[in-house]
Amino acid sequence: MKTLEFCNGVLKLVDQTKLPTEHKIVELSTYEEIADAIKTMIVRGAPAIGVTAAYGIVVAANSINISSTEQFFTELKKACDLIKSTRPTAVNLFWAVDRVYNKAVFNMDKPIDQIIKIIEAEACLMEKEDIDSNRAIGKFGNELIKENFTILTHCNAGALATCDHGTALGVIRSAHEAGKNINVFADETRPYLQGSRLTVWELMEDNIPVTLICDNMAGHFMKEGLIDCVIVGADRIALNGDTANKIGTYSVAVLAKENNIPFYVAAPISTIDFSIECGDEIPIEERNSDEVTHIKGVRIAPEGIKVRNPAFDVTPNKYISAIITDKGIIYPPFNENIPKYKD
Ligand code: MRU
Repeated sequence: MKTLEFCNGVLKLVDQTKLPTEHKIVELSTYEEIADAIKTMIVRGAPAIGVTAAYGIVVAANSINISSTEQFFTELKKACDLIKSTRPTAVNLFWAVDRVYNKAVFNMDKPIDQIIKIIEAEACLMEKEDIDSNRAIGKFGNELIKENFTILTHCNAGALATCDHGTALGVIRSAHEAGKNINVFADETRPYLQGSRLTVWELMEDNIPVTLICDNMAGHFMKEGLIDCVIVGADRIALNGDTANKIGTYSVAVLAKENNIPFYVAAPISTIDFSIECGDEIPIEERNSDEVTHIKGVRIAPEGIKVRNPAFDVTPNKYISAIITDKGIIYPPFNENIPKYKD
């Protein structure tokens, strides 16, 4: 099944905490369950979080048993606030919730059952748009990939992180579909292991040659001349191109620059936060220390150890060679070129 599927008021998600050893589907029929699935990373990846959140608002709207429009909107806003409180960094979450809520507000004069139908159609459209965006990112990004390239990626910016195809992995998939002989190196991506659990699984399913490495091996392979370019996804991009992505992305970008390797960010325009000037304004989620002290429930560090666990870091724009979007490739100077994409 796809990463997510909405049918008859129920949201089905592939449980990404269980992959690759177990392929479990969870069925969620309340918005509180959907908020919890985002928080606990049953679903993860900026675009997938966004579309999940959009369906969460639809589920919330369906559950509100009130005939006054004013009260309906009070309850709907409560659901929006809960869903927005789940994870702070990926702007797609806020973008998606606001888009669905604003659609409802715009149609406020209509009967409630009609408003619900309108916002369900909007969420479905967002799902479809996400797939189209990823295909477009793949098409543009493919132009940067040459025959026999080895591409390093970090975290999972694949079909699992989106509604299908992926962003960074979308570029890789499109190059593979175009018949190019390419190889992928995937960082395991400590502490949550999105690389070893999800990225390599996805690529193996598609028969795309992939090699798993530990995060601290990336510099070695770059220096050895084995990596031709790096492609990563993004959770939030500021107006000047500074990019928040999975923790460890910044280190990979610095290593890429040191070794004269192009470093590309692949993301839809909806990942650009046009309201912030630079990366300092991006909130960084700090997650539970267990993710660092334990692997699959097994303790690997002493009891009582102090831990820091930021889930994302910000890569300054000077390390980014280009941003591959669904509307085209954006090159530096980003502070001049990114604002041109605001509609
Ligand atoms: O914590 P996660 O797994 O949600 O983080 C995911 C990433 O950092 C991805 O690279 C990003 O969301 C882009 S996914 C297309």
